Amino acid sequence: MFSLKGRVGLVTGASRGIGRAIAIELAAAGARLALLARTLRPDFQEFARSLDTTTGSARAFGGDLSDPATSSGLLQRVRRWSPRLDFVVANAGVYAGSASRDVEESEWDAMLGTNLRGAFRTVQGALPLLGASSYASVVLVSSILATRASVGGVPYQSSKAGIEQMARALALELAPHVRVNTVAPGFIRTDMNRGGHEDPAFRRHVERATPLGRWGESSDIAPAVRFLLSDEAAWITGAVLLVDGGLGLE
Ligand SMILES: NC(=O)c1ccc[n+]([C@@H]2O[C@H](COP(=O)([O-])OP(=O)(O)OC[C@H]3O[C@@H](n4cnc5c(N)ncnc54)[C@H](OP(=O)(O)O)[C@@H]3O)[C@@H](O)[C@H]2O)c1
Repeated sequence: MFSLKGRVGLVTGASRGIGRAIAIELAAAGARLALLARTLRPDFQEFARSLDTTTGSARAFGGDLSDPATSSGLLQRVRRWSPRLDFVVANAGVYAGSASRDVEESEWDAMLGTNLRGAFRTVQGALPLLGASSYASVVLVSSILATRASVGGVPYQSSKAGIEQMARALALELAPHVRVNTVAPGFIRTDMNRGGHEDPAFRRHVERATPLGRWGESSDIAPAVRFLLSDEAAWITGAVLLVDGGLGLE
């Protein structure tokens, strides 16, 4: 079930957190992976090498996806690595939670440039490679904050709402050849919200607000991505899969 044996894919934001867990899951499912992060640190390269097993393998690439020229160069390098991609997971993202009166141009540009334009340029750049696949599939990573408002971080929330409509519009435009779906995580313990889960009051607030009673882990998200990329999801496109411990129910 949910095998990706022989498939080749690209995962962005794969050096840490959710993207790293997705890479581990997809390599275990048999995929060969191009992993992207902003910085090609030695630990990231070592992580990619650690996925070279009998079932999967991986290669690390570094560059700023918020910069369209860099993003295009990265996709060209990925194309030299593999002329075919069976899937893309556009997961790279950044967060800032400023009150609206304090949002500077740099924050707006970082949120929209990385989370929204970066994801679009990644998918757009990968389209010729996905065209060579018989199983082409894309998963975008949004957030519970795409549909549930929170105080502060309007640029972040706007970018994630944009991701969900981007996925639906791409799903329509690229059908029947490419399936496009979204995974929307709730609160996950990663570097992105370290300040939150290390603060006892906020940690308890999230635990109380989440019907399943705990913060999510990156490994809670990865199997949902694997499912959506697999042949078992062959008739699913344009869907948003909330993986949020029930947070979005209220
Ligand atoms: N954590 C949560 O609670 C949560 C909840 C909902 C949705 N999400 C979403 O899930 C995704 C992953 O979040 P996370 O918590 O795993 O974040 P994280 O731990 O902060 O990791 C972010 C990843 O994205 C990469 N990245 C950031 N900016 C980039 C850029 N401009 N160009 C290329 N790569 C870039 C980072 O690379 P470097 O290591 O090189 O910086 C890193 O690999 C994001 O889209 C986030 O919005 C997270």
